[in-house]
Amino acid sequence: MAFSYMPGFGNDFETETLPGSLPQGRNSPQRPAYGLYAEQLSGSPFTAPRGTNERSWLYRIRPSVKHTGRFKAVAYPLWKTAPNVGDHELALGQYRWNPVPMPKEPTNFIQGMRSITTAGDVLGQTGMAAHVYVANTSMVDDHFFNADGELLVVPQVGALRLVTEMGVIELRPGEIAVLPRGLVFKVELVDAEVRGYVCENYGAKLTLPDRGPIGANCLANPRDFKTPCAWFEEKETPCRLIVKWCGNFHVTEIGHSPLDVVAWHGNYAPYKYDLATFSPVGAILFDHPDPSIFTVLTAPSGEEGTANIDFVIFPPRWLVAEDTFRPPWYHRNIMSEFMGLIHGQYDAKEEGFVPGGISLHNLMLAHGPDAPGFEKASRAELKPVKLDNTMAFMFETRFPQMLTRYGAELETRQDNYIDCWADLKKRFNGTPEGDWS
Ligand SMILES: [Fe+2]
Repeated sequence: MAFSYMPGFGNDFETETLPGSLPQGRNSPQRPAYGLYAEQLSGSPFTAPRGTNERSWLYRIRPSVKHTGRFKAVAYPLWKTAPNVGDHELALGQYRWNPVPMPKEPTNFIQGMRSITTAGDVLGQTGMAAHVYVANTSMVDDHFFNADGELLVVPQVGALRLVTEMGVIELRPGEIAVLPRGLVFKVELVDAEVRGYVCENYGAKLTLPDRGPIGANCLANPRDFKTPCAWFEEKETPCRLIVKWCGNFHVTEIGHSPLDVVAWHGNYAPYKYDLATFSPVGAILFDHPDPSIFTVLTAPSGEEGTANIDFVIFPPRWLVAEDTFRPPWYHRNIMSEFMGLIHGQYDAKEEGFVPGGISLHNLMLAHGPDAPGFEKASRAELKPVKLDNTMAFMFETRFPQMLTRYGAELETRQDNYIDCWADLKKRFNGTPEGDWS
């Protein structure tokens, strides 16, 4: 079955699966068509300014109160929530990991969530968590919503089907999706095994960055974001709804599927985006801009220019700058940087940072090209070069990222990562030419 989408970012969408199921000219008629219940899902306070006011109206078989019974606690021990500090002994450092291993036991998307870092404080609705998911089992009767934040899903291996109450998103590596806070969904696997990254955003919603002097085009263009058309199922069998709420998990048993929205309209909705449609802008004579030039989505913190989260990619692009050290420069950063590699090679680290891997360069910890990367880039002939077949990304946050015990003890952590800079030589010898022997 092919699922359809509506283009645009933050549009006021409308979609119906049955003719006339979406009320026109009003939100809450006395008796909605088909005997549906009208329900509002608020993604912002009622009184948020127009530019950030988000809500949708859902016309569903049962109201959501029928999709919860009594809750009881349930454990997903590897999914951590900020603040989560002091649960391991690993010293401060720059860290890098090989891919998180695929599970051997049957594991669905929620069971397979492994938190690597947390930042900020979920109770203050600031900060984020960086997770890796690994799964080999579809969610069938289990459904989930996260009251703690929206989920930015970045597949790395295998395609997924995000079956949400507002429609179905098919997602493959190279695409990303955002599932808003509170949205009910389940995840079906298209491929036998899947892995990817998730950024859980406790703060203000991800939005498109301003472009400043770049103007009205390039970077991520609004039309390339796709929101699913309405889809529902009428399933009267035992189901479960699992809720993540302030770091704890709760489950409730119900007798039917909660994915029962026949029609909806509004601007609070899930979406996906193909990273290949990102139009990168960069240096065309010398130097290169800060990596913020590759920001796809940003979640503001309330302090101007200081993001709760920036989602930044390092896409295929031409390198043409003259008399320039072309890879990312050496860096110490007040923001903290969690990186992943979806496929290919990352130009600052051609070895060691492998697809599915992770690197973490935390608040004020130095990083930059490894010794072979520095050597190569310092001596390269500066003709135009296409950096191709690559897609790395970064979850960057204003908050320090606290490593979880799982991340600290993960057997794929490269204990020798720090050695990648060991061979950087002293080139200073008091002469203007330096020592390049
Ligand atoms: Fe950096």
